[in-house]
Amino acid sequence: MAGTVLGLFLGGCVTAIPVVTGVAEGVSHQKKQNEEAANQTRMIKFNLVVSCDSDREIANQVDHGVIVLRHDKVWIVPRNENNKPIPPRDDIKPPLHAFAGFYIQYPDEERCPPERGLVSTISDDPPMLNWIYVDRSTYELRYGNRTASIAHIVGEWDWTEDESRLILEGWEGFVAVDEGDGEGTPWGAEGLRWALYFDRDDNGLKGRRKGRDMLEVELGRRLQSEEEQLKQLEEADRKMQVKSQGDLKTQFTAPADKKKKNVWGRKD
Ligand SMILES: *[C@@H]1O[C@H](CO)[C@@H](O)[C@H](O)[C@H]1NC(C)=O
Ligand SMILES: *[C@@H]1O[C@H](CO)[C@@H](O)[C@H](O)[C@H]1NC(C)=O
Repeated sequence: MAGTVLGLFLGGCVTAIPVVTGVAEGVSHQKKQNEEAANQTRMIKFNLVVSCDSDREIANQVDHGVIVLRHDKVWIVPRNENNKPIPPRDDIKPPLHAFAGFYIQYPDEERCPPERGLVSTISDDPPMLNWIYVDRSTYELRYGNRTASIAHIVGEWDWTEDESRLILEGWEGFVAVDEGDGEGTPWGAEGLRWALYFDRDDNGLKGRRKGRDMLEVELGRRLQSEEEQLKQLEEADRKMQVKSQGDLKTQFTAPADKKKKNVWGRKD
């Protein structure tokens, strides 16, 4: 079931796993990675909900929030009772896109052992996936294609022992930084305020947050039900059919094609 559902996104990705040549360790690691790559539990799509147990008053701006992707950065906004993002302003277009992603090996032969990456849809129509990564110099979370992400921290992403929360490089070092001073930026114009960072050196982002307010946050994995996933894919499928009828040259012509092409959103 999950296989069929995710087939659309994952059609080509298993073949994209780099072949580790040589040493026996590489081979056994590759084997483990292949098993991991085929593990459907890792591929169950989830949203990320935020909790923050700081006593500070500003904590209520991020506690009970949800993660959204916007302007190549990763943000926290409040969520409604259906766990959908509440935009800071009503007129935001296109609407905010909530993180909806899963784990998959990052395709890079230079990374040995290979690292478990994290992808998310960045739009539902057309359905596109991007990598979630931490900028190597600023430690802010960003999203982008392989070219944009490869020089940065792309893993290893994981979950806590009970599988309920997200971790990176073995721990939950996520913090929200107040970028409400973003006047003149696209996110400032939209009223986005709390950007997600990874406190990689565990020193409160020393030298990196420019005196801005910072709050420690936890990122809960809220699994999407199969029903939700199916609904999304059916919707996407329906839209694609409408498109391909209108223009045979569109990238979504035949169902077989559809499977191969869209894997990383953009081919690079
Ligand atoms: C898949 O992942 C789950 C969760 O970590 C684990 O319990 C299960 O053993 C894994 N299955 C395989 C085939 O590796
Ligand atoms: C990948 O992302 C980079 C930077 O965001 C962009 O310049 C490039 O066009 C993208 N590549 C493809 C193939 O879409």
